[in-house]
Amino acid sequence: MGTSIDTNNIALTERYPWQRFAIRHTLADHPALSLERLVDVARELPRERVEYNLGAVGIGMRPEKVPLNGLTPEETVRRIEDNKSWIVLKYVEELPEYRALLEQCLADIEDHTKRALRGIHAKQAFIFISSPGSVTPYHIDQEHNFLLQIRGQKTIHIWDPDDRVAMPEEAVEATVFGQNAHRNLPWQESFRERGEAYTLTPGDGVYVPVHSPHWVKNGDAVSISLSITYRSSWSRRYVGLFAINAKLRSLGWRPAAVGKHRFIDALKHRLVLLLAALRRR
Ligand SMILES: [Fe+2]
Repeated sequence: MGTSIDTNNIALTERYPWQRFAIRHTLADHPALSLERLVDVARELPRERVEYNLGAVGIGMRPEKVPLNGLTPEETVRRIEDNKSWIVLKYVEELPEYRALLEQCLADIEDHTKRALRGIHAKQAFIFISSPGSVTPYHIDQEHNFLLQIRGQKTIHIWDPDDRVAMPEEAVEATVFGQNAHRNLPWQESFRERGEAYTLTPGDGVYVPVHSPHWVKNGDAVSISLSITYRSSWSRRYVGLFAINAKLRSLGWRPAAVGKHRFIDALKHRLVLLLAALRRR
């Protein structure tokens, strides 16, 4: 039995894992998530597991244009109150105290959702620390994601994962190849009314489905959030279909949209498995 994520929320069983929904959690006062402890973690983590930059960016800013802040990770966290920055500590589950937190949260969810998803893997935890007013630009992720607010307030705007006005197929395909794929995607003000805004204060959280477009704006205090992410057999297949479509499109084809024809999707999935097997030989 778990105690971190409140599983009394009926939405967790009805909407998971395809639709967004709000949750509550009990981690806001956890010592591993205090700013003091996170200063140490920022110093101890290998440099490649820390990403940070100035936080006062536009909703639609491209990643290569996002400016750096000129500080070390440790200084960035220590002075987050007034350095107008955004920093993420990645894969913190490799440290035992966060591994325990991650496992606890996933156990809470799984108690209620065992039948919804199989083959859960790539379980990871990220901690976002950001200055007042920081923005995380519009983007999608390839993982299932529970975002838990620990300190301060932020508003996350979320769209349906299959909203092809807010996020056309080609834009999704542009994100599936590797770490250098553009994470921040074309934003238009007209998208705004198609999404839904959740304002999170400590103890609040939200589930963000795979490929659900989102962007985040901090309130006027320092914000700390914990993000619990994982993949599943379903998400691996789903993301793979976009990868194969990206490949076909680059060859001049106009592939059928993912989800439109089950038979074609099944065929493409076979192709993905075949290519993966060939690559392993
Ligand atoms: Fe995200």
